[in-house]
Amino acid sequence: MKKMIIAMLALLPSLVMASGDAVKLDKAAYDLTDKASLQRGLTTFMNYCFGCHSTQYQRYNRVAEDLGIPEDLMKENIIFNGAKMGDLMKNAVSDKEAAKWFGAPPPDLTLVARVRGADWLYTYLHSFYVDPSRPTGVNNLLFPSVAMPHVLEPLQGTPRLHYATEVVNGEEVKVPHSIVSDGNGELSPEEYDQTVLDLVNFLVYSGEPVQLERERLGFWVLGFIVIFFILTVLLKKEYWRDVH
Ligand code: HEC
Repeated sequence: MKKMIIAMLALLPSLVMASGDAVKLDKAAYDLTDKASLQRGLTTFMNYCFGCHSTQYQRYNRVAEDLGIPEDLMKENIIFNGAKMGDLMKNAVSDKEAAKWFGAPPPDLTLVARVRGADWLYTYLHSFYVDPSRPTGVNNLLFPSVAMPHVLEPLQGTPRLHYATEVVNGEEVKVPHSIVSDGNGELSPEEYDQTVLDLVNFLVYSGEPVQLERERLGFWVLGFIVIFFILTVLLKKEYWRDVH
């Protein structure tokens, strides 16, 4: 718990700096009961994010169990840094090195969905756009001057920011309108949306792995309450029979 609090606190400074004014968040219709989506999300995470970000408050074997991935498949396809099933999902990048490379350390993402929210993450991964003035060649509408490169560009294609003209106080101003890919990525826009949604689904699960368990438990608790209610009614009838 202490570690979790520290992880959440570590995310706070960037949270304050990157509140991203007035960008409307897109809804992430994730589904924690969709195991196939969670598995795809995990795969994308390991292939595209784990190089820089860890989810070090989580163990491989727990994730495999929760997501219904057999141990041999997990070892073959998901774990590629020689880690053991019982290990925490840490990568080999030290914060210091990463900060030197990128100018900011990539934060651990175990709890990012709790801190930022699913909609924020979903929108963030749709908000990169080409900006040659930035060291990474991209900027992010939701997180201006972000130090992270657009790692999903091979999937999305080159994202370009389009502006619209609005009249503010009688003056015409250009405001960001939409981000459209050049269409040179591996995925269609719909497939990219789904890939990002799966990734967000996985990150929501990471932030609260007990949520799946809680939903299962909730079902039994409700069942218990119903049965208890019936028993109570029957018992009441039984008592009143003697009184009358
Ligand atoms: C090449 C390294 C690198 C890779 C790969 C990478 N990131 Fe990042 N990421 C960063 C850095 C550096 C930051 C810190 C940005 C800053 O503070 O300006 C960051 C920040 C973030 C943040 C913002 C966290 C916060 O709340 O401040 C999120 C969310 C994020 N990354 C998600 C992802 C996801 C999802 C992937 C995989 C698709 C990914 N990143 C892949 C380097 C990377």
